[in-house]
Amino acid sequence: MPKIGLLVGREESFPRAFLDALNGLGRDDLEAEMLKLGGTRMDELCEYDVIVDRISHDVPYYRLALKQAALSGTRIVNNPYWCSADDKFLGYSLAHRLGLAVPRTVLLPNKEYGEEVSEESLANLEYPIDWEGHVEWVGLPAFLKPAIGGGWRGVNRVDSIEELLHHYDRSGRDTMVLQQAVDFDRYVRCFCFGRKDVVVCRYDPEARAYLPLDDGWLDKKLLRRIERDSVTICEALGYDCNTVEFAIADGIPWAIDFTNIAPDMEIWSITPEYFDRVVDGMVSLVVRLADQSGEVPHPRWEDLLAGPGASKRRSKKTSKKRSASKASAKTKASSKAAGAAKKKTSKKAAKKKTSGKTRKAAE
Ligand SMILES: Nc1ncnc2c1ncn2[C@@H]1O[C@H](COP(=O)(O)OP(=O)(O)O)[C@@H](O)[C@H]1O
Ligand SMILES: [Mg+2]
Repeated sequence: MPKIGLLVGREESFPRAFLDALNGLGRDDLEAEMLKLGGTRMDELCEYDVIVDRISHDVPYYRLALKQAALSGTRIVNNPYWCSADDKFLGYSLAHRLGLAVPRTVLLPNKEYGEEVSEESLANLEYPIDWEGHVEWVGLPAFLKPAIGGGWRGVNRVDSIEELLHHYDRSGRDTMVLQQAVDFDRYVRCFCFGRKDVVVCRYDPEARAYLPLDDGWLDKKLLRRIERDSVTICEALGYDCNTVEFAIADGIPWAIDFTNIAPDMEIWSITPEYFDRVVDGMVSLVVRLADQSGEVPHPRWEDLLAGPGASKRRSKKTSKKRSASKASAKTKASSKAAGAAKKKTSKKAAKKKTSGKTRKAAE
């Protein structure tokens, strides 16, 4: 019987609604409950098919136990390996490579490293930092924020080099990024489930408030792009539950914050309008994962990182590609000359497309 476990922090409404919805599906073959952990043995087999993790970012023991649970083939939302690996700067660089609009961002050396790191250990660091150069590239105003952070911790808007240095000098051991400020007229926060279902929410970041998404607030084309960009980035990051934030300026959705592995899902935060859709999104996701085979992955680092079933998913994709290329080989054989001409054109088109993408993202 597929079993789903839930690991929560200081939450009330989401866990209750989520477990009630799962247990109310009328599926006798499915069980969902709060998970209990009190010490984990190395040879332990995890009894859960799916674990929804909402708190391991604050409880290191949970994170490590979840990585071990993955050995049993348990699907964890979100993959604890990716959560351990991510940071905002990697996210920005990745999203830029994928063609999303990302504000110019520079990763900065830390202000402090702590007593255990001596001067000699920092011999590769250039000093002083080229503040003028970085500011010139990024532009002002800009945002200085931790590359690993959340909940507005350490986020500051800076309008001058003096303000930048003022906040940088107070950044301690955080590794910071400096980012071009987007002068936005609208802001959205999008829940993305299973790297495919997107709930776009209107959001006021100053007030930290979710607002109703009135008809016409986003035109269809922009909405489609926001949904597509959310899926693209969640797919690349390997997150099954994430929120992606976009600041919209002149109709362009700029990706601002998209490594939110356990977004706030309380009804009083996200409002009933979005809450029901978010609970539905999570329920469909975990049911889908629970219904997939509980195949134990090869105990190889690479497969563990990608998550159970990844090699299967990969080989499915490869065989699809193979049959597609077989079919195209047949066509080519019947019209070799036309095929060659097409290849040339498509290579050119691909080249054009790539440079267009790079330009667009760099704007
Ligand atoms: N580049 C930017 N342009 C405009 N506003 C920004 C930018 N970066 C951050 N902000 C503002 O600061 C808020 C917090 O920054 P964010 O990157 O979302 O950090 P956190 O992970 O702490 O939420 C955003 O919701 C937005 O209002
Ligand atoms: Mg944010």
